[in-house]
Amino acid sequence: MKIITLSGDGIGPEIMAAAMKVFHTVADLNGLAYEIIEGKIGGAALDAYQHPYPEQTRDLVDQCDAVLLGAVGGPKWDQSQLRPEQGLLLLRKDLEAYCNMRPIKTFEALKDKTPLKDESMIDMCFVRELTGGIYFGHKESYEENGVHYAKDVMSYNSDEIRRISHIAFDFAKKRKNKVTLVDKSNVLETSKLWRKVVHEEKGNIEVENMYVDNAAMQLMVNPKNFDVILTSNMFGDILSDEASILAGSIGCLPSISMGNGPILYEPIHGSAPDIANQNIANPIGMIMSVAYLFKMTYKREDLYDLIYNQINQLLNDGFGTRDLNLKSTVTTTHFTEKLIESIKENY
Ligand code: IPM
Ligand code: MG
Repeated sequence: MKIITLSGDGIGPEIMAAAMKVFHTVADLNGLAYEIIEGKIGGAALDAYQHPYPEQTRDLVDQCDAVLLGAVGGPKWDQSQLRPEQGLLLLRKDLEAYCNMRPIKTFEALKDKTPLKDESMIDMCFVRELTGGIYFGHKESYEENGVHYAKDVMSYNSDEIRRISHIAFDFAKKRKNKVTLVDKSNVLETSKLWRKVVHEEKGNIEVENMYVDNAAMQLMVNPKNFDVILTSNMFGDILSDEASILAGSIGCLPSISMGNGPILYEPIHGSAPDIANQNIANPIGMIMSVAYLFKMTYKREDLYDLIYNQINQLLNDGFGTRDLNLKSTVTTTHFTEKLIESIKENY
């Protein structure tokens, strides 16, 4: 198995270092074969190659079976014509990773960290379309008669909707057989097409329709109503950040992006430049991305369970980074060392 790590910017390199320590520990204990290579993306790639997803990185990615990504972006590149974020979008497109799974699942020890005190232990999953919609439509800015205009075109076709719907349906079959389709079909043509295609394809799956504005509210007032949430690129981006709060901290959440190529694993959070290089970043989202790499690329669910359970145990014992505000606040590296110790002991 050949794996590329793209640490990116901000806290990316720190959390990647932590997650790779866990990767090596678990892979070595199990005698798994791997080759790890490193590449640059985002601001780091802009600095080195003047492009956020340079050819050098693309060539490396093309040789790999899986991709681990840290985070991209930061104020240093705010004025840059090509933004670091563009690198991530080009990577997703290059991998044809059209489906982004974002499981929002509370660790037991964090159940009272949600602002909604009586809605603990959330377990839902976003299935976010990732390579289409307004993120990738025609973009334009221009000036006419002294007035500035800007355009981002949102478009979807039925094939794009169909293929991701089936991933959501297959996933729902393993859960509660229910999918909530989030759209804005009272206003948008693209959303009307989503509804049409999803209902044509749904088979025996129960599909609940919900407008995105209502979904933003329902996530807060009735989060347990949700199980599998199917939605377009931008709605999924926004709502998954909102929902992450339900699980205690955005720092704990991984994501899996898949389609026609190697799977891309990345935490759902950003590069948090304000806390970079202080050894305080929460590495759990990145470590859980590695856990999913074992589960999905290596087909070793037992190793996912091992990592998940040991993180759970550490949190239950009161250890966590600053954002979690548990009994003992520890650094990124300390948390990682303790996790590795307990993985070795419980293996
Ligand atoms: C995410 C991020 C990205 C997105 C940015 C960094 C381009 O917010 O993965 O959620 O909007 O998809
Ligand atoms: Mg986002």
